[in-house]
Amino acid sequence: MTVGGVTTENIISKKMAARERTMADTDARNGWTIRPGRDSDGPGIIALIWACWSTYPGIKMDVDGEMPELRTLSTYYAGLGGRLWVAETGGQVSGMIAVHPREPPAWEISHVYVHPSLHGSGLGHALLGAAERYAQAAGAERFVLWSDTRFDRAHRFYEKRSYVRHGSIRVLNDISNSLEYGYAKPVDGVECLDIASAGSAVPRLAEIMIACVDDGASVGFLAPLGADKARAFWRQAATDVGAGKRAIVAAWHDGVLLGTGTLDLAMPDNQRHRAEVQKLLVHPGGRRLGLGRQIMRALEDVAIKNGRSLLTLDTRAGDPGEALYRAEHWQEAGRIPDFARAADGTSHEAIVFWKMLGFTNRR
Ligand SMILES: CC(C)(COP(=O)(O)OP(=O)(O)OC[C@H]1O[C@@H](n2cnc3c(N)ncnc32)[C@H](O)[C@@H]1OP(=O)(O)O)[C@@H](O)C(=O)NCCC(=O)NCCS
Repeated sequence: MTVGGVTTENIISKKMAARERTMADTDARNGWTIRPGRDSDGPGIIALIWACWSTYPGIKMDVDGEMPELRTLSTYYAGLGGRLWVAETGGQVSGMIAVHPREPPAWEISHVYVHPSLHGSGLGHALLGAAERYAQAAGAERFVLWSDTRFDRAHRFYEKRSYVRHGSIRVLNDISNSLEYGYAKPVDGVECLDIASAGSAVPRLAEIMIACVDDGASVGFLAPLGADKARAFWRQAATDVGAGKRAIVAAWHDGVLLGTGTLDLAMPDNQRHRAEVQKLLVHPGGRRLGLGRQIMRALEDVAIKNGRSLLTLDTRAGDPGEALYRAEHWQEAGRIPDFARAADGTSHEAIVFWKMLGFTNRR
């Protein structure tokens, strides 16, 4: 797939894109085939779910008491206007996923299970990719899902697939005393992250930052930027969101989290009307799709909601950021020579920009 002249390999990762392409129906190397689910899959589905649940302590299964729909799951999802798929390996149900419409334009992903013997094989990516594509073709503009708070491996998987935590924890009152995290992502769009969603986005935001720094961006770090350092930055940023000191905006394109920008709200007492734009980052594989502009506009909206009337920022002269800020009607305050230095010691001039909110016709 190509997005704006850029291959998906650049956007997600070569490995994941290879999995996406082969997700058709069969993976000969790992021996699985994905096909529409049938009601006759009931026993295989129940065995698969138990194989997954039994790897976590404290989880119990009472099919007839709590989940009778598992016996005819295909009919159940058809009744919701959705669809069920299973993966088969050697005649056994080895994976499954379902999707169905919720409040428009959201669709819910559910019953995501891959047999533990196939973890890491790419089957989860193949199943989720199939479900997301099906729902998008049917009009989905947003995906939501619920995941047991104990399923930490699943959380890492959803976060890798650009989902972020959403809303409060759900209490099921079942025999396993289940609590569930909500996850969500828009197909395309920009959203402001709260402390939980920012925390869950840390790995992806760190990946974006590392890719930008490796690509030569001047955003406070020198290449090569290690994952630990990048994650530590975003963990602190998420903590700052919780304390009301920072706002983080994230941008998705085609279901992939590709860009971010932050607002430093922790200003001195006499500048509480001001905020500073920092760490505007769009993954090198997602440039010139309008994400940078969308993020800047979202940051302006967040600033206004926080009672700020003046935004400031600095950028390396001649960078794409300069063109973006001028296109968005920011004013140049001046230039500072030798403001930042690259890893090779090269010195760079910075331009300081400002924008008064509420007085410019930006759209
Ligand atoms: C700056 C950055 C965020 C722009 O993101 P982007 O998603 O590519 O920007 P957009 O697609 O929204 O571009 C909006 C407008 O900005 C201008 N612009 C953006 N990149 C440009 C470039 N490379 N050359 C010229 N103009 C550019 C154009 O006017 C563009 O509108 P157009 O595409 O209709 O012509 C991105 O290049 C980036 O992440 N750079 C590395 C990090 C960085 O330097 N951040 C800024 C720190 S201050």
